[in-house]
Amino acid sequence: MIEEILPPEVAAAEAFDDAGPRALFPAEEAAVARAVPKRRSEFATGRACARAALAKLGLPPVPIVPGPHGAPQWPPGVTGSITHCAGYRASAVAHLSDVASLGLDAEPNGALPDGVLDRIAVARERAWLPELAAAVPGVSWDRLLFCAKESVYKAWFPLTRRWLGFEQAAITVDPQAGTFTAELLAPGEALDGRRLAGFDGRWLVRDGLVLTAITVPA
Ligand SMILES: CC(C)(COP(=O)(O)OP(=O)(O)OC[C@H]1O[C@@H](n2cnc3c(N)ncnc32)[C@H](O)[C@@H]1OP(=O)(O)O)[C@@H](O)C(=O)NCCC(=O)NCCS
Repeated sequence: MIEEILPPEVAAAEAFDDAGPRALFPAEEAAVARAVPKRRSEFATGRACARAALAKLGLPPVPIVPGPHGAPQWPPGVTGSITHCAGYRASAVAHLSDVASLGLDAEPNGALPDGVLDRIAVARERAWLPELAAAVPGVSWDRLLFCAKESVYKAWFPLTRRWLGFEQAAITVDPQAGTFTAELLAPGEALDGRRLAGFDGRWLVRDGLVLTAITVPA
């Protein structure tokens, strides 16, 4: 499913439960040693997806340990992203020569809990949400907004190593094309000096899930 919103140079793998093989390397095991079983399971299946995606690029299985801010540490020359939500886990990876950064997010296709929208939406997003909800039923557009913003953060962080708040990006969604854009409301400079004005992403709603994916070209 996730491949549908990723370009061909990105390899991906997904799972809908934690039933598959999901052995961890010792360094990964240590990262979740004190976590509750649910967290250990999603972490392990996320790693299994990541290694399956790396294998599609012809790369061997390696530990993918979380860095100090939670971002997965990919092998040299590779970037990637991991997501998990109830009933879904996925990872996407690419060679840094093709893709500078990736951001994936998955959420259940249901309305956000009370109070969350006020914390994550900027004024212009609050303006288009009711219009889209009226025009295109069947999609929890508030959840899709949240999902898009989380994928923005996951694509942003490896490029900058900095925090980005929900109020620092404005999302616009194209409901027909299955795309979205994120305009950065604060100037963004990547570690390599490139200026970041925003991100282009794709979204998919199917089988009770909202998926978003951002691929930043090299
Ligand atoms: C980090 C965050 C985006 C994760 O999203 P989530 O919906 O809670 O959880 P998901 O299951 O989809 O993703 C979790 C995965 O994100 C990845 N991740 C965590 N921190 C990350 C970071 N700083 N950069 C990139 N990826 C990160 C990890 O792979 C993690 O899974 P793992 O710990 O099993 O490896 C979220 O918890 C967060 O902190 N959001 C606040 C920042 C934000 O979204 N700003 C909006 C900007 S417009």
